[in-house]
Amino acid sequence: MTETTNNLKRMTAPGSAYKIVDVPELYADEIQRYGVEGKFVSDEDSPWVPFGDNAAIKHLAFDVRNNTFSNILWIKSPGVIGTHKHRGTVVMLCLEGSVRYLEYDWVAGPGGFIYETPGQTHTLVTDHPDGVKLFGWLNGAIEFYDEDANFLETCDVWWYINHYESYCREHGIPINKELYI
Ligand SMILES: [Fe+2]
Repeated sequence: MTETTNNLKRMTAPGSAYKIVDVPELYADEIQRYGVEGKFVSDEDSPWVPFGDNAAIKHLAFDVRNNTFSNILWIKSPGVIGTHKHRGTVVMLCLEGSVRYLEYDWVAGPGGFIYETPGQTHTLVTDHPDGVKLFGWLNGAIEFYDEDANFLETCDVWWYINHYESYCREHGIPINKELYI
């Protein structure tokens, strides 16, 4: 911490206090009673669940109160994820490979940040020889349509839970409760 005016201090990063600090908390009782523990999921703690022939999903979080879910989508070679409409907000980060949408003029490579909003409809494509890995934090329903604009299915937190648990049951993999936030 460094001194500034009015005896206030300013946070600097990285900090120098390499220790656990017991900070003051006015509402410790309420946090104790109603607070919810954070979660940790290591890379090995969640399997790659096949998603069609050329893709897989590593599920990371399911929040049934907010219809929010998180995962890594891996498309393994050049391919398409069908046209879909968002009823919520999506945050994505490209981890490997590249991805674009037929509807837009940009291409996201590693480190590329994608923000999608309710009402957007688009068609996800990867042209990269190794496909793409996309981390996503997704909220709300995603409606999928076929190439003739016929409605196919709504994917929401229940779809993602079913996708994960069905695979675990079929392969004798224990359900990891850390995914349920
Ligand atoms: Fe999307």
